[in-house]
Amino acid sequence: GSPLASQNSGSTVVRKKLMGYVGFANLPNQVHRKSVRKGFHFTTMVVGESGLGKSTLINTLFNTQLYPAKEPLPPSAERPKTVSIESISADIEENGVRLRLTVVDTPGFGDFVNNDESWKPIVDNIESRFDAYLEQENRVNRQKIVDNRVHACLYFIQPTGHSLKPIDIEFMRRLHAKVNLIPIIAKADTLTDDEVFNFKQRVLADIAFHNIHIFQAPIYENEDEETVAENEEIASKIPFAVVGSNQEVQTADGRTVRGRSYPWGVIEVDNEDHCDFVKLRQMLIRTYMEELREHTNNVLYENWRSEKLLGMGVVQDISVFKEINPAAKTAEERALHETKLAKMEAEMKMVFQQKVQEKEAKLKQSEEELYSRHRDMKDSLERQRLELEDKKRRLESGRPLTPERTNPTKKKGFLRT
Ligand code: GTP
Repeated sequence: GSPLASQNSGSTVVRKKLMGYVGFANLPNQVHRKSVRKGFHFTTMVVGESGLGKSTLINTLFNTQLYPAKEPLPPSAERPKTVSIESISADIEENGVRLRLTVVDTPGFGDFVNNDESWKPIVDNIESRFDAYLEQENRVNRQKIVDNRVHACLYFIQPTGHSLKPIDIEFMRRLHAKVNLIPIIAKADTLTDDEVFNFKQRVLADIAFHNIHIFQAPIYENEDEETVAENEEIASKIPFAVVGSNQEVQTADGRTVRGRSYPWGVIEVDNEDHCDFVKLRQMLIRTYMEELREHTNNVLYENWRSEKLLGMGVVQDISVFKEINPAAKTAEERALHETKLAKMEAEMKMVFQQKVQEKEAKLKQSEEELYSRHRDMKDSLERQRLELEDKKRRLESGRPLTPERTNPTKKKGFLRT
């Protein structure tokens, strides 16, 4: 194939019912329900130089002509000058489980005289998908979030048998923090088994040397033995050496298989002794689809999001802000303490004033009482003085004492005794 003349991102929807076995109906039930409710979108990106068999492999993976065959451009046609991004979606269904599968193709990658920035439009595309997701998360109504983030990126490595090329290393270094990278050795049928084995070692050594993080297939110890063995086998096959074909061919022993026919025999796509295609499909669609989605959401997207928000100077949460900023925390505590003190002071003032008023009222009352007692005493003294003066006048004038002084009853009693 060759790059498309179109430079615009396009999206086509193909509705197909898959005939062959895919495998996502075997996802654990619980995960299943969650994914089905959320709409179950899965987006795979394919990147690699032209002609490495990207379209063929996608069609082989989903056992469908999801990917329309591309007409090679005539030599005279003007070739696009940049990497373009094209996406194609299909609703596929297996045992009643629906999956919206999107494949993002990146024609033009590595096809130019100067490929220095081939990775850039791809990074931009991945980030704009993160942006679209963030924008939906920030909406008031977050019910219907459509997840168009890229969950896995199949990176096609040319089967040179040597080592990674600078463009491979540059691409993976630029992308590994933004997408789950799954390296693939393309057209593995062009290498012998020994060559494949040695090439894989070289590729892994290069990846480790350049500190590139590729998607690690997690192995859960608490799974049953069979699952652990299967997971270990998947992990051991990375980078997957694959062969793609949608042609059915006849084997020497008369079987009809998907494969590629050579004068010396048939390479079978679905035969694990021939290539790692089956393991790649198991990883993508059966075993690790949910992990790929979760890792994209919880790690890759989350890191991108917090970096972006920090870059914009947005502080997400006041409580988080206080935790990371002790000065702000102390200032807030001091303000709180001061309000409390002011309130206490006001209360005390009020109580004090009340007490003073009560005391004053009491004092006034006792003063009045004193005055009235004083008046009473003065009055009674005055009366006594008047009486005494009256007595004195009578004694002086020789008049007898007042009649009440001669008590008749006393007299009578005296006489009786
Ligand atoms: P662009 O469309 O240019 O991006 O290329 P592509 O990477 O999509 O490659 P495509 O699938 O169109 O395949 C290019 C050629 O390689 C076709 O002739 C395929 O038949 C052939 N091809 C695809 N996969 C394999 C493979 O696994 N082994 C071999 N030997 N040839 C393959």
